[in-house]
Amino acid sequence: MTLHLASSNGSPVVTRTWKNPSTPAVQRVKWALILLGMLPLLRLVVGFFTDQLGANPIEFITRSTGTWTLVGLAVTLSITPLRKLLNWPWLIRLRRTAGLLAFFYVCLHFTTYIWFDRFFDVEDIIKDVIKRPFITVGFAAFLLFIPLAVTSNNAIIKKLGAKLWQRIHYLVYVIAILGVVHYWWLVKKDLTQPIIYACVFAVLLGLRVMWKLRGTTAGVKIAVPPVTKVSRS
Ligand code: HEM
Repeated sequence: MTLHLASSNGSPVVTRTWKNPSTPAVQRVKWALILLGMLPLLRLVVGFFTDQLGANPIEFITRSTGTWTLVGLAVTLSITPLRKLLNWPWLIRLRRTAGLLAFFYVCLHFTTYIWFDRFFDVEDIIKDVIKRPFITVGFAAFLLFIPLAVTSNNAIIKKLGAKLWQRIHYLVYVIAILGVVHYWWLVKKDLTQPIIYACVFAVLLGLRVMWKLRGTTAGVKIAVPPVTKVSRS
């Protein structure tokens, strides 16, 4: 994308490229990401009402929302490496949106479980969380997700300060690992999918460790979103 802006008042001509898109262009990309992120939900809603989710729609919804949580986490963790490799600093402005989409799907995943699988039976849910290790790990990942979502708005980032905010947001790595362990433990036969996710997260986390060892801390620190420039996400 290259956009040449001619100026009539003598101010310098701005050349827009993928490296420095305008703020409205970044907003459009953000909205495209949100719309894209809503497609799996749309598919579930349409499939549910048209009876196309197979013999066990609840299992289908649980699996789909679990999968999209992992995909959302992978996209969120890919943003910093992509930003560095492509030298597109603006990508950082998409990270919060991607993270919130992952949180949205884990909420749907958890709601499907407590509503349609356990019928809001709190005692039964507690027993299940204690008894089945894959549920214990998934539940822990879900709980760790909450502080990330709660601290994702500009006012809280300002209040907490960059250091504390960054520390809280390191939890995303723990969540990704727990998410893969949860998936790995629940799969009975074919481990291909969990192995693929484990490899993807290993690469994404490995890159950060490599940057840290090389001393380029910019790749390791979770960059604080530009609170003054971005008002919505
Ligand atoms: C970050 C948190 C979590 C992630 C990333 C995640 C991810 C996944 C994935 C990828 C699947 C399997 C999808 C497939 O079979 O294709 C799954 C299934 C499942 N998850 Fe989660 N999950 C999370 C949290 C939770 C929580 C909090 C619960 C409930 C307390 C839960 C309960 C389940 C159940 C019951 C299944 C279906 C198991 C089966 O089909 O036998 N998950 N999850």
